[in-house]
Amino acid sequence: MAKEQVLVSGGAGYIGSHTAVALIEAGYDVVIIDNLSNSDMNAVEGVRKITGVDVPFEKVDCCDKEALRVIFKKYPFRSAIHFAAYKAVGESVDEPLKYYSNNLCSFINILELMREEGRENILFSSSATVYGEPDALPVTENSPRKPSTSPYGNTKQMCEDILRDSTAAYKGLKGIALRYFNPMGAHPSALIGELPRGVPNNLVPFITQTAAGVRECLSIFGDDYPTPDGTCIRDYIDVVDLAGAHVAAISRLIEGRNKANYEIFNVGTGRGVSVMELVKAFEKVNNLKLNYRIAGRRAGDTIEVWANTSLANEELGWKATRTLEETLAAAWAWEKHVRGL
Ligand code: UFG
Repeated sequence: MAKEQVLVSGGAGYIGSHTAVALIEAGYDVVIIDNLSNSDMNAVEGVRKITGVDVPFEKVDCCDKEALRVIFKKYPFRSAIHFAAYKAVGESVDEPLKYYSNNLCSFINILELMREEGRENILFSSSATVYGEPDALPVTENSPRKPSTSPYGNTKQMCEDILRDSTAAYKGLKGIALRYFNPMGAHPSALIGELPRGVPNNLVPFITQTAAGVRECLSIFGDDYPTPDGTCIRDYIDVVDLAGAHVAAISRLIEGRNKANYEIFNVGTGRGVSVMELVKAFEKVNNLKLNYRIAGRRAGDTIEVWANTSLANEELGWKATRTLEETLAAAWAWEKHVRGL
């Protein structure tokens, strides 16, 4: 019997490449598309090397609907996972139209083609950013969404709404939005991982680059928050665990185990970790000293957020299993691989 095929848009990116590996390991056939605007072919080669499968790759921009249609005509996938999007919060404030245009057009094109070409199942990469500064912790899927502080966050909320409305209106279309908390780490092979271009915005790549000597010093943005050690708290989810959540969610749709046409799941560990705790854990597990300093608060930062993951645990049968230490060791192994250390 032919394998069930899944389209992975943005599959050369950080979360997309790890998910492609997890899908192949779970027995799916994967087609990767990516415009390589913020990624490169090394990730696709990494996926091929890890899995031993010559995964098809097509360089396509999802904003180009006719080019995307060619992919839909060429491959018989019933299901798609849409990762392709811009994701830098700060840049989105400076260039909102770039974010609205890219993130909305690409998703709308995918959904339109799914309708036009009769495809059924779609997963959307959403974010815990939709919860803003929560009123109560941990956040559940029913916690209110807060007005976004960035165009990037707005695109996540808008795409969730587009998916909700489309799955309500179009018979045969089913969707799940996964709200990621803070992804980090890398595949244990160190063949794929996070590769930010330029100065990293996110904490873990900044830590690993500082440890590698690429950055001089990590700035910890604020130690005077109302948290136990004064630094912000997040729910850091291992990217391999996160990839597993995608396999669980797409399988649910493919096998028709979904309870509604549109569902939302938090994907986190359920545990809050402060910036300082993370830095200390990184130093300890990798047996090194990190050069860091306390800096001023970063505008727009949420003080603390972590997930209630009961729904994903029960409905998807998925749970994060990797420890903070394993993840931070993998992140460092990947950075060393990238730098040839
Ligand atoms: N931080 C530092 N120094 C740095 C970078 C980050 O102290 O050099 C701190 C931040 O102030 C924050 C924490 O580390 O307290 C995490 O920051 P990240 O930038 O790694 O992650 P965020 O929680 O700000 O953002 C992430 C994703 C976004 C997403 C958001 C909410 O990057 O895409 O979670 O879900 F929108």
